[in-house]
Amino acid sequence: MASQNDAPIVSLLTPYKMGNFNLSHRVVLAPLTRLRSYNNLPQPHAILYYSQRTSPGGLLISEATGVSDTSQGSMNTPGIWTKDQVEAWKPIVNGVHAKGGIFFCQIWHVGRVSSSVYQPNGQAPISSTDKPLKQQMGNNGAEEPQFTPPRRLRIDEIPHIVNDFRLAARNAIEAGFDGVEIHGAHGYLLEQFMKDKVNDRCDEYGGSLENRCRFALEVVEAVVKEIGAERVGVRLSPFTEHEECGDSDPKALGLYMANALSRYNILYCHMVEPRMKNALEVVECTHSLVPMRKAFKGTFIAAGGYGREDGINAVAENRTDLVAYGRLFLANPDLPKRFGLDAPLNKYNRQKFYSSHPVIGYTDYPFLE
Ligand code: FNR
Repeated sequence: MASQNDAPIVSLLTPYKMGNFNLSHRVVLAPLTRLRSYNNLPQPHAILYYSQRTSPGGLLISEATGVSDTSQGSMNTPGIWTKDQVEAWKPIVNGVHAKGGIFFCQIWHVGRVSSSVYQPNGQAPISSTDKPLKQQMGNNGAEEPQFTPPRRLRIDEIPHIVNDFRLAARNAIEAGFDGVEIHGAHGYLLEQFMKDKVNDRCDEYGGSLENRCRFALEVVEAVVKEIGAERVGVRLSPFTEHEECGDSDPKALGLYMANALSRYNILYCHMVEPRMKNALEVVECTHSLVPMRKAFKGTFIAAGGYGREDGINAVAENRTDLVAYGRLFLANPDLPKRFGLDAPLNKYNRQKFYSSHPVIGYTDYPFLE
């Protein structure tokens, strides 16, 4: 791509209209758990963290945020199910809006990726199954205790969880967020239903693709009814096997969901690249997201392992509308500007991804001079 005077146009930095939102560029902040929300309460230091990563007309997705007191699997992840949590999010959202950013809240339930120490009354975590994770520690790099074997959800309990997502979405709008992203990726509760290597149910929530996707789509439907399809995105990672959650036919799963989500007219579908073995590890892979991108009618966001050049190419070749950046945005608060100038990037400090420090490895990454 070139402009009239032959200066190269950085496709990632061209404007894009996403539903009612006028984005000034295509570089999205990916959802990033940072474990700095003490007692599940978003903290004032997050105001600076998110506003540092805001540019006028830029899209930000919050770290995964719990929908209920059974949704947590780590220490110090934020929630959005209590009044105090909603109030605590408000100044953070205001900080993003003050700089002209567009802010979506990623709402999640971890399901079996949890321990009874994070559960009310020390109960077992819930899931589609009672099969425990084999590994003993979380593979997100955080220091986590042993996972506790989960309890299989009864059918009559499922509407309550759907309702928790609905209320969380309502709370997110009350906190001022522009919309929500339903976390249907990375081996957490919704994926524990969607993927056949974990879901071993024999009822209408297990077996066929239609049955396995039923729960996630019930959540989508409830959230859409509550806040409107134009404010709803969904994140999926059909190919990724994070937290031992794989599927025997990930392409069919991705296509099924892309088509189903189109029918709900949701704002965006955010998919993790097949090259992501888990949330962080890139491997060789011949699959692509293009069939899902073609099947989904709304805005498509691709994520996982992107740098400047392949992000530019993906947008220029229309393989995606937007690109979400995780680690590079974590370490480069002014990432869109650096991409525009092709400036050098700060290196991320993996040791500090999940520390609870309110500044170090969080808000101390330098901006360009
Ligand atoms: C993540 N990732 C992630 N994904 C998600 O859907 N919700 C989350 O809360 C988190 N949390 C999280 C924390 C940290 C510290 C990292 C590094 C990653 C995955 C993330 O959104 C993204 O998909 C991956 O980082 C891969 O993209 P990059 O980093 O290669 O651009």
